[in-house]
Amino acid sequence: MKHKLKLLAGLTVLAMAAAFPAKAETISMFCSATDYELCEEGAQQWAKSSGNEVKINRTPQNLDDAIPIYQQLFASNSSDVDLLYVDVIWLGMMKDHFEDLSSLVPEGEIKAHFASATDAARIDGKLLAMPFYIDTGLMFYRKDLLEKYGKQPPKTWDELTTTAKEIQDGERKAGNADMWGYAWQGRSYEGLTCDAIEWIASGGGGTILSDKGDVTINNPQTAAALTRARGWIDTISPKGVLNYDEESSRALFESGNAVFHRNWPYVWGTSQTPDGKLLGKVGVSALPVGAEGQKSSGALGTAYLAVSKYSTKKEKAAELLRYMVGLEDQKMRALKGGYNPTVEALYSDADVLAKIPFLPMAKNAFEESVARPSATTGKDYNRVSRTFYRAVHDVISGKGDVNDELAQLEKRLKRDLKAN
Ligand code: GLC
Repeated sequence: MKHKLKLLAGLTVLAMAAAFPAKAETISMFCSATDYELCEEGAQQWAKSSGNEVKINRTPQNLDDAIPIYQQLFASNSSDVDLLYVDVIWLGMMKDHFEDLSSLVPEGEIKAHFASATDAARIDGKLLAMPFYIDTGLMFYRKDLLEKYGKQPPKTWDELTTTAKEIQDGERKAGNADMWGYAWQGRSYEGLTCDAIEWIASGGGGTILSDKGDVTINNPQTAAALTRARGWIDTISPKGVLNYDEESSRALFESGNAVFHRNWPYVWGTSQTPDGKLLGKVGVSALPVGAEGQKSSGALGTAYLAVSKYSTKKEKAAELLRYMVGLEDQKMRALKGGYNPTVEALYSDADVLAKIPFLPMAKNAFEESVARPSATTGKDYNRVSRTFYRAVHDVISGKGDVNDELAQLEKRLKRDLKAN
C-alpha cells in the first residue's frame, strides 16, 4: 500500500512536470576572447540539452579592457548580462557585484574543485564565483632544438639566458636569420605584471606587497631580476617583445622562430594541432627560478564564472554556470584546448592525461604558483598593478637606472595605497 502511494505521488510529479515544463530562458554571458570557441561550444551544449538559449558576448582580447565594460554594467545595475567571465584578480575588485553562489551550487559540486581555487572566491563569507580553468605561467620550449644542442630545460633564469642565446646563435648560423631565444609578454599591461612577478618571486624578491599590504618591491632581488630581463631585449628576445601580449608572443613561438616561450597552458592546445608547425616538437616545464633553493613561481591566473547580482535570471544563470564549471565541460575543454581543469578528478582521468601528458607537472606548478596581490589590495588592485607594470616596462625598455626606478615605484605604490 505504502509503495503504491509513493508510486502514485511520483507519477503525479512527472505528470505535472510534463504539463508545466520549466520556462525556457535566454541567458546572456561573457566568454573571454582567447577561449571563445570552446566557451561557446560549452554554453551551446547546455542550451541544447536544457532547452534554453544563450547569448554570448566576447571580452576584448586584452582582458584589461573588459574591466571598464563590466564597471559600466555594474554602475547602471544592468541586467543585460547574467553570467560573467572573471579573471582571478577581479574577484576582490568586483566582489560587490556578484551573487553569492552558496545556495545556488550544491556543496558536492563545489567540493569537486581544488579547495584553493574555490577558497580564493570566498570573500566576506560568500562564494562569489566558481573556478573555470587554471592558468599558471609555464615554460614551453623546442624539445627538438634542446635535443639537437644537448641541452636540458633550464632550471634557473640565468641558464635560460645562456641556453636561449646558444641555440639562437647556432640556428642563425645554420641559416635561420629570424630565430630568437625567448618569446614572452613585455607590453605595458597586466600580462607584464604576471611575467615580472614570476622573475621577482622566484628570486626571493616577493610579490610587490607583503601579505599585510606593505610595499616590499624595492629590494636587491627585484633589481637583479629586472636587470636580467632588460638584458634579454634585443639579445635573446626581439625588441618587439616590449609590445607583445600572450597572442603575439605565441605567434612568434608557433612560427617556429623562438626556442623558449612563457605562456599559459592553452599554448599546448594551439601548438599541438595536427596541421601546426610544432606538432611533436614542444616540451613544457615549470618556469625557472632566480636563485638556487627558490621555488618556481608561475603566476596564478585562474579563470572564474560569476552570476551578476543584477541578473533577473539568477537561478538559470547558475544552472549554466554549474554546467560550464562541471566535469563534463572541463573535460571537453582539456581535450580540445589543453585547458587545465579545476575539477580535481580530471587530474587522474586517462583521456585527459593522454592529451596533456605534463598535467602532473602543471598541477605542481599550480600548487607552487604565486598570487598577484589582488586579495590584499581589493578594489585598488588595478591601480597598483598599473603602477607596477608601467615601471617595469620603463626599466626593461632601458629607461632610467633600475635602483632609481624602484625607489620611485615604491613611493608611487605607497601613494596609490594611501589614496584610499
Ligand atoms: C591570463 C590569466 C589572467 C591574467 C591575464 C594577463 O588571461 O588567466 O589571470 O590576468 O592572462 O594577460
